[in-house]
Amino acid sequence: MSVDTAQIEKLENELSASVAAAGDLQSLDEARVQALGKKGRITDLMKQLGGMDPDARKAAGQALNALKDKIAAQIADKERSFKRAALEARLSGERVDVTLSPRPERTGRIHPISQTQEEIVSIFAAMGFTVKDGPDIEDDWHNFTALNFPPGHPAREMQDTFFLPKTEGEEERFAPKVLRTHTSPVQIRTMCNEKPPIRIVVTGRTYRSDYDMTHTPMFHQLEGLVIDTETNFAHLKGCLREFCETYFEVEDLPMRFRPSFFPFTEPSAEVDIGCSRKDGGLKIGAGDDWLEILGCGMVHPNVLRNCGIDPDIYQGFAFGMGVERIAMLKYGIPDLRSFFESDVRWLDHYGFDPLDRPNLATREG
Ligand code: DAH
Repeated sequence: MSVDTAQIEKLENELSASVAAAGDLQSLDEARVQALGKKGRITDLMKQLGGMDPDARKAAGQALNALKDKIAAQIADKERSFKRAALEARLSGERVDVTLSPRPERTGRIHPISQTQEEIVSIFAAMGFTVKDGPDIEDDWHNFTALNFPPGHPAREMQDTFFLPKTEGEEERFAPKVLRTHTSPVQIRTMCNEKPPIRIVVTGRTYRSDYDMTHTPMFHQLEGLVIDTETNFAHLKGCLREFCETYFEVEDLPMRFRPSFFPFTEPSAEVDIGCSRKDGGLKIGAGDDWLEILGCGMVHPNVLRNCGIDPDIYQGFAFGMGVERIAMLKYGIPDLRSFFESDVRWLDHYGFDPLDRPNLATREG
């Protein structure tokens, strides 16, 4: 038996045609097996070389090897183009339009407390305040004593404060542990650990044993503290005006500072903002009525001393307010208790879209 050039040419035409005819990866593989497989047609002819005389065998062998390479290259080419087409089809099938808005039913809502806290923080951050937090479980010293609460002060009593059971090895000075009744102990923690100038705001949970229309056992407060050598009451007023006007979005907001009492400030004041209460509706910034929104004052020298700060060199102001209260006022939320009932319908109504949050820090102007 022998292999001649015409035979090889004919085979080449047939094999090329079957590679070209393959319409998918599977038929291409069949064409490959048929041409190059162990029992394939090229292999078949290779086997016949043995019976040929050396010169003819050499020529036929070279021609068969060349044919093998050629067909293999054609197959590889075709395979590549099939794979590319498959990838392109997949990519276009999976194309995502990133400019489309998400489906509204899939987005959760930001709780009004979180929203309000974030607004507060962004306003004070713009004024150069740093954000601090402290533990919810406090001790008597940070929550009361260091803040200049006298020994029998009513706020220490059982009906207001959640006391924790005594634990082994508790340091006498700090006992008993309490759930903090206000955010003011974070003032103490900051002043004990940092040197003035100090300019901080705190928002966080606070606890009092109380539950009715206007009280919940857990609620949130905002606290501010500024300590420096020349900080005075005018700075306090300017700072709170800036905050209230930005937060309530009212220019020239009527404000009134009324003398008041807190153990940790002297003098102390309560701040009212102007409002009208006509036809059952509340409007902030207009009218001839007043609404109390916060407490403030100049930090008491005893408090500075308790934290190792010399009141002959340093002075400053502090303020505190209820986060729920200012959230209710700004967003027209009528019932305090609804904040903590986890009613999804309430959250749908009063909550904020996470992708569309009015953020005072990023607002223009
Ligand atoms: N801690 C006070 C409260 O819970 C609020 C407060 C009033 C905080 C005056 C202050 C302040 O820092 O200066 O009622």
